[in-house]
Amino acid sequence: MNLRLRVWRQRDAQDPGRFVEYAAPEVSPDMSFLEMLDVVNERLVGKGEEPIAFDHDCREGICGACSLVIDGIPHGPRRATTTCQLHMRQYRDGDTITIEPFRARAFPVVRDLCVDRGAFDRVLQAGGFVSVNTGGAPDGNAIPVGKQEAETAFDAAACIGCGACVAACPNASAMLFVSAKVGHLAHLPQGQPERHRRVLGMVAAMDAEGFGNCRNDFECEAVCPKEIPVRFIAEMNRDYAKALLSGREAATRGE
Ligand code: SF4
Ligand code: FES
Repeated sequence: MNLRLRVWRQRDAQDPGRFVEYAAPEVSPDMSFLEMLDVVNERLVGKGEEPIAFDHDCREGICGACSLVIDGIPHGPRRATTTCQLHMRQYRDGDTITIEPFRARAFPVVRDLCVDRGAFDRVLQAGGFVSVNTGGAPDGNAIPVGKQEAETAFDAAACIGCGACVAACPNASAMLFVSAKVGHLAHLPQGQPERHRRVLGMVAAMDAEGFGNCRNDFECEAVCPKEIPVRFIAEMNRDYAKALLSGREAATRGE
C-alpha cells in the first residue's frame, strides 16, 4: 500500500506545532501501526531529517505507553485495541491518515506525538496502593475473595493507564482511569481499611492536576482499549459521597 500521513510535529510544549505531510510507500498490511512509523522514521533519518517522536514500550497492549490520536480517535479506529496492536490491514491503498498526540491540558506535549502523562502517576501516588499490613504474598493469596468480587476487581485492574479516556473526553476528564484504580482496590478485602482515604485523596489529586469533570458523554468507554465500563465512575461517585459523609460524621463526633 502507498499511504499519505499527516503528522503533528511540535518541537516542545512552547512550540505552536503544525501538521507535516509524509509519504509512506510500500506499507505491508501485516505491519503494525508503530512498525509503519518506524519505517517512515528510518527514511527520515536516512535523509538527515528529524524522526517523528512517539511513545511505545511493550508493543503488546499491556503497558499503556503508545498514545496516538489516529484520524480523530485515541488508539485509532479498532475497538478495544491499543495503537501498538493496530495493524495496517485496517487501511486501504491511497488512504491519508492523520496522526496527533493526545490533547488535554493535564497532558502537555513533550515533543511531536509524545505527551507527559505524569499527572496520572501523581494521582496514583495519592492513593492507588495498599499500605496496611496484609502479610506476605502467600498470606495475601490465602485471603478468600468471592468470584464476582474477584472478577470485578480484575476488570478494573485491566486499566493500563494509557490516557485515551482523557484524550477522548470533550472535558478531558480522567474519571474512567481514576475510577478503575479506585474500583480495583474497593472490590478486594485488602483495599478496605484505606477505602475512604483513597477515594478522597485520588479525586483531590485528579482535580488538582486540571482534569475536567465527567459529563456523561461516555466517549471514554468507547475508546478504552481495555473496555473499562463507566459503571466504575458511578461506583466511585458513591464511594466518594460515603467517604465525605463519614468524615463529616466523625468530625461532628469530635474524632
Ligand atoms: S480507563 Fe481505559 S482508556 Fe483510560 S487509562 Fe485505563 S485503559 Fe486507558
Ligand atoms: S506499547 Fe505498550 S500498550 Fe502499546
